[in-house]
Amino acid sequence: MLHSGISRKLEIPGQFQRLDDRRQRAIHEITVSDFSPLKISIIGGGGHVGLPLGLFLCDHGHSVTIVDTDQERLDQIGRGEMPFLEEGAEELLPKCLASGRFVLRSDQDAISDAELIIMTIGTPVDEYLDPQVRAFDEAVQDVLEHTSVGQLLMIRSTVFPGVTDRLGRQVAEEGHDLDVCYCPERIAQGRALQELTRLPQLVSGCSDRAQERAADFFRDLGAQVIELSPLEAELGKLFTNCYRYINFAISNQFYMLAEHYGVDFQRIYEAITADYPRLNGFSNSGLTGGPCLLKDTMQLASFNHNLLTLGQHAMMVNEGLPCFIIEQLKKEHDLKTKTVGVLGMAFKGNCDDGRSSLSYKLKKILSLECRRVLCTDPYIDDDDNTTLQSVLEEADILILGACHQEYRDLKPRQSVVDVFGFMSRD
Ligand SMILES: NC(=O)c1ccc[n+]([C@@H]2O[C@H](COP(=O)([O-])OP(=O)(O)OC[C@H]3O[C@@H](n4cnc5c(N)ncnc54)[C@H](O)[C@@H]3O)[C@@H](O)[C@H]2O)c1
Repeated sequence: MLHSGISRKLEIPGQFQRLDDRRQRAIHEITVSDFSPLKISIIGGGGHVGLPLGLFLCDHGHSVTIVDTDQERLDQIGRGEMPFLEEGAEELLPKCLASGRFVLRSDQDAISDAELIIMTIGTPVDEYLDPQVRAFDEAVQDVLEHTSVGQLLMIRSTVFPGVTDRLGRQVAEEGHDLDVCYCPERIAQGRALQELTRLPQLVSGCSDRAQERAADFFRDLGAQVIELSPLEAELGKLFTNCYRYINFAISNQFYMLAEHYGVDFQRIYEAITADYPRLNGFSNSGLTGGPCLLKDTMQLASFNHNLLTLGQHAMMVNEGLPCFIIEQLKKEHDLKTKTVGVLGMAFKGNCDDGRSSLSYKLKKILSLECRRVLCTDPYIDDDDNTTLQSVLEEADILILGACHQEYRDLKPRQSVVDVFGFMSRD
């Protein structure tokens, strides 16, 4: 059976309201009494976005099929083990598996049966920092070969501007009877289960009907819905990540300037942000890596006639910070004779994800510049890593790579480069 909100709109098209009217009612009443469960397939459902979303939807009563090409990951999930850290997911996963409404598949066959198909596959940039359009297109093509009449196809991955409308045109030209919408994921990795209904959902569709169906879906989950056109939503998601990336670059550039003057950036940062609301959005300095911010800034810059020069400059600053740290160390130490320890290899604190972490860039440069590099991380299982104790015993100099809680109150005997200003100081 179709979700009642969806069937109501499908059967009585005259009931559609104009988009402008609907924009005005940002917070919709939650029609809990209307609720009837949907069959949902999540393509890329074993990933950092897809899996928490699947658990959340299953917990809200929907039937969820996780479709993922990574069989090993599916096996792990099937055993009730979360493949990555996600607050609250370890308890939820066994509950969902036991419900019988949470199914794992490596083939696409299950999706023809679904009422809603959500795509959450990765959308990386290539070695030239251009979006890997072909990989996304191939995945979409696979999905389209398995779709059936009347389904809602939701793109949740972060995509290059124009991708959704282009998909809408492709669907129409190939004669698929599908509604296509774009509703970007905006959670912070690791906090999806808390943030999925707390954050407003940006909702867009290739037709009024697609948009209405997507908006109803999120409203029924209790989320605030903000409606946009697909291009606005695509740009909105990319602007969000690009803004954050540039914001970090500002602080990182100031950090480098302060170092140049021989003063402590943290002292200035704390002084100028104290009780001064106009600097509320001013982030602290720190290594700015991870799977999203740089690649989304580059997605926005690619094919845009170099209009995003600020984004390109932010990349130079953020990606240049590891080199800067090492150049500063070289002014005081003969690194060729030193062992340097990197504390934390994840791209951010209390996280087990090393994707595009600048700690690995630090490690690479250090391996060229110093006698020995030792790396440690309590959350990342990597044969190249060693224990915190070995690093503390053997390293001459330490660099903080990720703000894991385990490092906050460390009092090491060696000097520590802490670009984040994270470790407690006496
Ligand atoms: N990680 C985040 O916190 C976050 C937040 C917001 C948005 N996003 C965006 O969401 C998207 C997914 O990011 P992610 O971090 O979850 O990536 P991920 O690599 O963790 O997950 C992607 C999953 O898709 C699977 N996959 C790849 N191709 C497939 C195919 N053809 N069919 C089925 N499964 C396939 C992979 O095996 C993997 O499990 C990206 O566009 C990203 O920019 C990520």
